[in-house]
Amino acid sequence: MPADLRSRIEQYLSSSFLSEDIPHRLSSAMRYSLLAGGKRLRPVLCLCVARACAPEKADELTEALLPFAAGLEMIHTYSLIHDDLPAMDDDDLRRGCPTCHKAFDEATAILAGDALLTNAFSHMACAAVPAERLLEAVRLTADAAGAAGMAGGQMLDLLGEGKRLSLDELRVLNEKKTGALLFNACECGAVLAGATAAQREAARLYGCELGIAFQITDDILDVVGDEATVGKEVRHDEKSAKATWPSLLGLEGARERAKKHCAAAEAAIAGVFSGPDADFLRETSQKLVNRTH
Ligand code: IPE
Ligand code: IPE
Ligand code: MG
Ligand code: MG
Ligand code: MG
Repeated sequence: MPADLRSRIEQYLSSSFLSEDIPHRLSSAMRYSLLAGGKRLRPVLCLCVARACAPEKADELTEALLPFAAGLEMIHTYSLIHDDLPAMDDDDLRRGCPTCHKAFDEATAILAGDALLTNAFSHMACAAVPAERLLEAVRLTADAAGAAGMAGGQMLDLLGEGKRLSLDELRVLNEKKTGALLFNACECGAVLAGATAAQREAARLYGCELGIAFQITDDILDVVGDEATVGKEVRHDEKSAKATWPSLLGLEGARERAKKHCAAAEAAIAGVFSGPDADFLRETSQKLVNRTH
């Protein structure tokens, strides 16, 4: 079923930013990064949580929420384009292709990121759900991407270069830079489906724990991964003296910590969600520690 959801998201994204009103070089750069692949984890999580909240309306919800879910992927892609810029992580490879600023140029990559972030909100605003729910989800998403969320986490990440952070400091950095967009995807799925307070809380907590585990495994892949499989440069964090989980805990310690957060993610949704979409949420967390890309 998530394979289906993924292909619906792919279809939506590939029909985006084709307007002749967009300067061709800009739409080319946006679509270059957006359509280069990617696991589509955030939009899939958003749709799965929504469906798990109201299984009897699963198909209807998928249809209604697709523009919102796609918008989340646009914001995520913008964050990757800017993360790779020379002034940030200075990476040459992303999703198995040259990074946006390498394939185009820095100024174009900055603008492609700006436009993906901004236009994402116009896509999200088109979700066919009651206006109050939509407004709440849009507000949550703006906060998750903004200064106290992902952008703030990226600031902490840069400030942490060359420093030995405490585990608590690293957790906060991680919760913001990666966790915020992940738990937001889950929480918005719940809000947009008209979830109960308990479902919304479970979705947020699941996303929070998954978000920490996800960055831990990203840091591990940077150490042990293979460039062709990961699709991005590896052994890059050490070169930039990044504050990472393996640097603080060692590889085994980092793996154990990731497992702990995955178990907490599963516990958060136990007894709250059921059905095939809940199974997918559980599997996602179970497979995370052994992911190769
Ligand atoms: C990479 O995210 C950046 C992090 C937050 C660690 P993903 O691993 O989800 O990247 P794609 O979307 O699959 O390329
Ligand atoms: C970045 O974390 C997370 C974002 C907000 C984009 P990383 O810098 O570790 O992500 P990768 O390894 O480049 O994908
Ligand atoms: Mg980074
Ligand atoms: Mg990076
Ligand atoms: Mg990384």
